[in-house]
Amino acid sequence: MTEEPQFDEGTTLDRFLMETLRTYPGATGTFVNLCQSIALAGKMISARVNRAGLAGMLGATGEVNIQGEFVQKLDEYANHTFKRSLEHRGHTCMVVSEEDEQPSLVGEQWHSGRYVVTVDPLDGSSNIDVNATIGTIFGVFRRKSEEGTQADLKDALRPGTELVAAGYIVYGSGTLLVLGTEAGVHGFTLDPVVGEFFLSHPHIQLKPGKIYSCNEAYAKKWSEGIQTYLGLCKDRGYSARYIGSLVADFHRNLLKGGIFFYPATKKDPEGKLRLLYEAFPLAYLVERAGGAATDGKMRILDRVPTDLHERTPLILGSREMVEELTALTAQEG
Ligand code: AHG
Ligand code: MN
Ligand code: MN
Repeated sequence: MTEEPQFDEGTTLDRFLMETLRTYPGATGTFVNLCQSIALAGKMISARVNRAGLAGMLGATGEVNIQGEFVQKLDEYANHTFKRSLEHRGHTCMVVSEEDEQPSLVGEQWHSGRYVVTVDPLDGSSNIDVNATIGTIFGVFRRKSEEGTQADLKDALRPGTELVAAGYIVYGSGTLLVLGTEAGVHGFTLDPVVGEFFLSHPHIQLKPGKIYSCNEAYAKKWSEGIQTYLGLCKDRGYSARYIGSLVADFHRNLLKGGIFFYPATKKDPEGKLRLLYEAFPLAYLVERAGGAATDGKMRILDRVPTDLHERTPLILGSREMVEELTALTAQEG
């Protein structure tokens, strides 16, 4: 590898991608094209989110998705937009989306596409109607099957350690794309006037923190170890921060240091969050940024999904905090 390129505040996402990839031997432009398509989808969804109340985009469609949840109009728009954006440039063979029971083989060129993308097109949909932060989460695998053949489930049902990139776009007071690759984790803020993402958060690294994020209303249903940890957080005077959009809670903790946990309960031993398009991408990012992610028993990225919509308990954030919590849960049956 040649010397690492230097970036300043005027660095666009495009320039960052071109110059970073140049440092990886054998890299082609296909991955750059993929990231550009994701960024385009992010810009389109961001524009629609900002106008949602004016564009008739609030509220539910009346449909129920594969998760048994009411589909919001913006869920549908985000899913459609994300897939359309990936369709045209021949880099993606398959998309696994929270909103679709089956994987989508993308466009007419799906035989040749090199990448499999998993996506939660709109995370935190219960926050849409109250103007709180929501986001898009994505993970990228390089396909296992041969290019030129039809992709199949084996291309998506694989351990998180095989991800080649992951990221999210948060639609908050600003729109920010956080991208994790071999080159680390970097944040790009959308300048809505110029229509470009600019590097704003280079080389994100997680610090030890004093924030805990969980839906405490469920505390009595959690195991003893989790409840003990919650007690420790309070005894130490940590701050509780939980908005109910995984992507927003994760983003805050990534920048400030902290822990997010959505544990199992007896009734829901698999928790609520989904492995392929929520837990895997965020676990990839958190590890690249120096943190940790576990399901309480094992490292998230070592899990091998057997179902596209498999759920998982999720504990992730600053390494020291995750280790302390898991030391308390490790002995539990
Ligand atoms: P989605 O909107 O994609 O279905 O995800 C909602 C998830 C996640 O964003 C959040 O962390 C969690 O649901 C909140 O669940 P509770 O309301 O049970 O706390
Ligand atoms: Mn979600
Ligand atoms: Mn969603």
